[in-house]
Amino acid sequence: MKKQILLIVSGGIAAYKSLELVRILRRHDIAVRAVMTKSAAEFVTPLSLGVMTEDHVYGDMFNLKDEREIGHIQLSRQADLIVICPATANLIAKMNAGIADDLATTILLATDKPVLAVPAMNVRMWNHNATQRNIKQLREDSVMVMTPDSGAMACGEFGPGRLPEPSEITQQICTQLGVKFDATLCQGQSPTTQSNVQETITNNQALAGKHILITAGPTREAIDPVRYIANRSSGKQGFAIADAAAKMGAKVTLIAGPVSLPTPSGVERIDVESALEMQSAVNDALPADCAIMVAAVADWRAANNAEQKIKKDGDAIAPLQLIENPDILAELSQHKERPKLLIGFAAETENVLEHARTKLSRKGCDWIIANDVSTTNGQGVMGGDHNDVHIITADGEDNIDHATKERVAQTIMEKIANVL
Ligand code: CTP
Repeated sequence: MKKQILLIVSGGIAAYKSLELVRILRRHDIAVRAVMTKSAAEFVTPLSLGVMTEDHVYGDMFNLKDEREIGHIQLSRQADLIVICPATANLIAKMNAGIADDLATTILLATDKPVLAVPAMNVRMWNHNATQRNIKQLREDSVMVMTPDSGAMACGEFGPGRLPEPSEITQQICTQLGVKFDATLCQGQSPTTQSNVQETITNNQALAGKHILITAGPTREAIDPVRYIANRSSGKQGFAIADAAAKMGAKVTLIAGPVSLPTPSGVERIDVESALEMQSAVNDALPADCAIMVAAVADWRAANNAEQKIKKDGDAIAPLQLIENPDILAELSQHKERPKLLIGFAAETENVLEHARTKLSRKGCDWIIANDVSTTNGQGVMGGDHNDVHIITADGEDNIDHATKERVAQTIMEKIANVL
């Protein structure tokens, strides 16, 4: 028999995402009946929710017609699972206290069905002792409470409190109902463009007015007109960071070594080849609020860059003399226009954390982001799409395990936005 959900939508900015959730649930052949709190109707109309559920949307406890036709007790009896999405701090508090002052809270107090709450709220509300106490108690009372996502919020702050993706919520619901989850059913156009608008608003606010300077890619050190010294850096992580910073409203200057990646939208890109060119482009781009040195700068360059192609000379091997390149990051830490937040990357193949900590102090930067470039799941990090990184600061360490370079970039930029 077809499984049925009773979806309670309470009044938060994430309420519009309930529309997409309904769409995905119904594609999984799960029937959805919806109840809205009064404040939810300020964020999403009963009409749009009714269009998505193809059913009447219940809202008013004292609606005699609804009560006569189905009744609040019946509503919960017919469901296999009650899902509260989004669950606001207010609804969570009322539920924990056993308050029943509208249809949604009355159903929650009257039901004997399993309940899944999907919280979404401002980070401070989420972190507040009262909310955490309520959630702890609800979990002890066997209410399933999903952990919110971390990220940019509608109010311009960052941290935990965002509604998890509708696909993730669906997966959780499918597990509860014993329905097979199908990720392909989660794709396609969202029923509302509000999510895109929302994302643009939140992203644009976080780093507005800040200048972020980023270096990315390898450098190429000429030996003669046809030969050079280089390394395997693809530039992908640096470009992903530039993209994430621009999406959060920052003015971004991206100083790129020789890579063939497209320029992220809204980013000012300056192409360079050698470490010396990168050094002067960095100095020209100052002042900046934050510099993130992702580039794999060549440590050495040829002492003499031959004007003509060096020819083979019998059996003798051409001598190649190297001299050290300037350390752009270390210099920047001593610069009179030192950015407020200076971040280096440390690509290591062994003793990753130990080497990275040494670099943090040797180079005088505020954070070092260390990554193990030996191998990841058998695939090299350099040139790959995933990364495992450790963000090392004076206060400790954060780890981001095997995530896409875009996800790593977003997490790093959120952490930066919190301190700038
Ligand atoms: N860096 C720099 N200028 C250099 C060398 C490195 O700005 N000449 C920066 C990199 O962009 C990175 C950090 O310093 O942010 C660490 O780079 P890495 O190559 O890991 O360290 P090195 O100083 O080159 O040390 P080693 O080669 O011994 O690991």
